[in-house]
Amino acid sequence: EKGGFKHFMLKEIMDQPNAMRNALRGRIYQPVDAAPDVWEIKLGGLEKAKERAVDGRSPLERMAHASRLIIAACGTSWHSALIAKCAFEKLAGVPTEVEYASEFRYRKPLICQSDCLIAISQSGETADTLEAIKMAKQYKALTIGIVNVVGSSIARETDAGMYLHAGPEIGVASTKAFTCQVIAVLLMALRLGKQLGTLSEEMLHTYCAALSAVPDSIEEWLKSLTEQTRVISKYFRLATNALFSGVGIHFPVALEGALKLKEISYIHAEGFPAAEIRHGGITLIRNFVPVICIAMRHDPAYEQTKQVVSDFRAKDAAVVVITDQGNRDFDQVAQFVVQCPETKLELQPLISCVPLQLLSYYIADMRGCSIDQPRNLAKSVTVE
Ligand code: M6R
Repeated sequence: EKGGFKHFMLKEIMDQPNAMRNALRGRIYQPVDAAPDVWEIKLGGLEKAKERAVDGRSPLERMAHASRLIIAACGTSWHSALIAKCAFEKLAGVPTEVEYASEFRYRKPLICQSDCLIAISQSGETADTLEAIKMAKQYKALTIGIVNVVGSSIARETDAGMYLHAGPEIGVASTKAFTCQVIAVLLMALRLGKQLGTLSEEMLHTYCAALSAVPDSIEEWLKSLTEQTRVISKYFRLATNALFSGVGIHFPVALEGALKLKEISYIHAEGFPAAEIRHGGITLIRNFVPVICIAMRHDPAYEQTKQVVSDFRAKDAAVVVITDQGNRDFDQVAQFVVQCPETKLELQPLISCVPLQLLSYYIADMRGCSIDQPRNLAKSVTVE
């Protein structure tokens, strides 16, 4: 059932183009009778749920007019939530807060009826996330689930939502569920942007076309990326610490890269916003410490990031830069440069996370770690 792969995690990484296509299927499409560049988004679980309508408004309409969106999640799903915040605020103009479900539920937060709580969870069974939903319901807030496992507790407990359609994820380290969560929140952000008129029709079509092209470009890229990440992994397999940096929408990707690495290879790793590393973490940088920097030309602080990368190199760190196709800015300062296929900035996390998943996988494999079932870790944390 591993489909010829050594581990489920590798199978699931390689399965991502298909999983993403399934997450997009039926939700983003070009109407047959429309002009060739016209796209539509339909999110049945949010738009059609008439039986869940309140005051005649669908869950989507209630979300669009919520006083704020609060996203509660844990682990990798919390990283998707941080990406969702960037997308909801930029594409739809809706104020969004992100909470660790475990913190949220215990600190008696202020919640009101006009809030909308979005729970993101692969398993749909994470105890803290489930409790966050129950708490929001006590205040009569709208609750929305973004869940992979059909019929799971979170899917049943929320008022409405979206399934990921990523297929079963067996490896404890989340990979394809993460990218499908990012697809789901991008679709939601685009649909909300359309609903609220914050996105022009033209922009909407551009984003939809770009989003629909992502699975194919990752599939093509994986052919060369696996070998490149294997070479980099060999170089880093004996590291004891690693740092990941990224700015804006790439900061959550850096956090996710660090989580993946520590989770399966047991190498201590931390994620930083690029410039923030100067406020403390820089003391960890020395000869041979791997620093993996995501630096895309369209990132808001690209020039500053370039400077930070040069500083790392000056301190003899071993720098890997994840950047855009054809970018030669780092040729002189990085040990390794991984060039990603082009897409729009808000969609870039779907792509930039893939080399980080593969680096963690190959490093852990070279260290002989138990990849699909890391020590002390359960696939879903149902204890409180
Ligand atoms: O099933 P959930 O998405 O609610 O799980 C949340 C976390 O436990 C999970 O993402 C965990 O961090 C993964 N093992 C990360 O790879």
